[in-house]
Amino acid sequence: MTFAPYDRPVRAAFVGLGRIYDLNMRGYVGNPDVEVVALVDPIEERREQRQADWPEAAPFPSIAKLAASGIEVDTVECLLPIPLHADGIIELIDHGWHVNAQKPICNDLAAAQRILDAAKASDRVLRVMENYLFYDPLRKLKSVVAAGDIGEVAGYHVKMVGSGNGGWDVPWSSFEWQLKQMALGRGIMVFDDGWHKLSTALWLFGPVREVRAWIGTTSFGSGIDIDAPAMIGWEHENGVRGVWDITLAPDLYMRSDYYTNDERWEVTGTKGYARVNRIMARGIQQPSVEVYSDGEMRAYHALDDDWASSFRDSGRHWLRYLRTGEGPLMWSAEQAVDVLRFALAAYASSAAGGIGVHPGKVE
Ligand SMILES: NC(=O)c1ccc[n+]([C@@H]2O[C@H](COP(=O)([O-])OP(=O)(O)OC[C@H]3O[C@@H](n4cnc5c(N)ncnc54)[C@H](O)[C@@H]3O)[C@@H](O)[C@H]2O)c1
Repeated sequence: MTFAPYDRPVRAAFVGLGRIYDLNMRGYVGNPDVEVVALVDPIEERREQRQADWPEAAPFPSIAKLAASGIEVDTVECLLPIPLHADGIIELIDHGWHVNAQKPICNDLAAAQRILDAAKASDRVLRVMENYLFYDPLRKLKSVVAAGDIGEVAGYHVKMVGSGNGGWDVPWSSFEWQLKQMALGRGIMVFDDGWHKLSTALWLFGPVREVRAWIGTTSFGSGIDIDAPAMIGWEHENGVRGVWDITLAPDLYMRSDYYTNDERWEVTGTKGYARVNRIMARGIQQPSVEVYSDGEMRAYHALDDDWASSFRDSGRHWLRYLRTGEGPLMWSAEQAVDVLRFALAAYASSAAGGIGVHPGKVE
């Protein structure tokens, strides 16, 4: 830790007031650790809309205008589109602000190095938030597995079905930068949403030594190339293997307050299994965690399984960190680069026909 924790509420700015602001802001609401002092977005309509949440905060159309305003800022909640992450994060750090950045940290290792160098040259803290690590059912899965309830871990499976039917509205402007990402080979399924699956794998079972992937494309025309179907498998350094399948089901309806992906995590042990049945969509009505062992099924009906709560708790964790210095950050910039390497290893493997690739050896 290179900074002194604050003995007063930290002064925060939101930079990027788009779709995911609706969930990231939840860690800030009613939180005595923070005072929201500024809102930044080039779109006036966004600034006006979000001003209702923070009447005292000053609105700005750019980071530069906030910096020139003289308003004291300690930390920024960085919610920029992915193509702007690298330059945006560096700009924020260079202004002397701590940064809680949305994932993915950036698109490639050269940009990641620039970000790490900027963070190192300052005494500011860069966190790359990972709300899935704060999702109550996934935390329950981790603790059930660690307690040995299903025996020794034999392997695990992550399932993700992309659907666009149901859920909240996503403005076209949010897809525009996704099209740029697709053109760069950083698709919405594997790289953007998929980031959480890779993160969760590292959090559950530690470093990965080999990745094998077969990443396909489904084209909907006009540059809309979705990176599915895809199958990605890996082996952790502890010998545990994981496999993740990504499937598209465009007309599948899912009840959801957010996006509509159907997701599952299932860890198989030597004497049972533990399964998280959903994350962002509510899917079919069943408990969010089920554990089968010794011929009996245990079901968890009272977990905080609203996906938005994971954003609230991740945000609160960060703001508490700034007040106390008590970590871990979940994730640090270096840990986020490990996730990036994991994704890059999957791309390298797929491009080479599915051979095994060590994430530490990608360039
Ligand atoms: N953790 C999660 O589960 C999760 C879910 C969705 C999105 N995200 C991430 O959140 C980030 C934002 O995604 P989104 O869906 O909210 O995108 P969005 O397009 O809805 O919002 C981005 C906002 O940034 C604004 N913006 C653009 N340039 C700017 C600049 N120079 N300065 C300030 N603001 C600027 C845009 O006007 C827009 O309002 C992305 O990194 C995305 O991957 C994470």
